[in-house]
Amino acid sequence: MSLLKILVYPDPALREPSKEVERFDSELGNFIRDLWETMLAYDGVGLAATQVGKNLRVCVISWKEHRLILVNPRITGTEGEQIGEEGCLSFPGIFEKIRRPLKVRVEAVDEAGKPFSLEADGFLARALCHEIDHLDGRLMIDHLSHLKREIVRKKLLKRSKEERKKP
Ligand code: NI
Repeated sequence: MSLLKILVYPDPALREPSKEVERFDSELGNFIRDLWETMLAYDGVGLAATQVGKNLRVCVISWKEHRLILVNPRITGTEGEQIGEEGCLSFPGIFEKIRRPLKVRVEAVDEAGKPFSLEADGFLARALCHEIDHLDGRLMIDHLSHLKREIVRKKLLKRSKEERKKP
């Protein structure tokens, strides 16, 4: 087991669309375990493979009693809308109000390749949209106005400069 390095915006790898998983082997299982442990270690609700520089359609979510491992997930239906605060391990310290569907239906396979589907609403629907967005190279700031996006970008650039100045 090892903790993975989380990429921070504006790392260009966060924009890479991920490839479908085709091999359900022990290498995939080990990667999913590392992704899971990394999410927990950083206190995240979710983490996508894209965020650790791995170009695979895999994401994990841990929220309340929900423990989800999603391989090759697709949103197959949405209903309604909600606006709520969202954060992301690739945007440290940034929390923004973002519009998402109120309900989603997702189809995916598990780490052994077995298909399953689920329906979720509220915060879990938000988390699913957020993580599946990552797999398509889409980020939470893409849902913000141009002006707000610029403010977030400047904040994170300033922070990364300050980080580099630290001894
Ligand atoms: Ni995120």
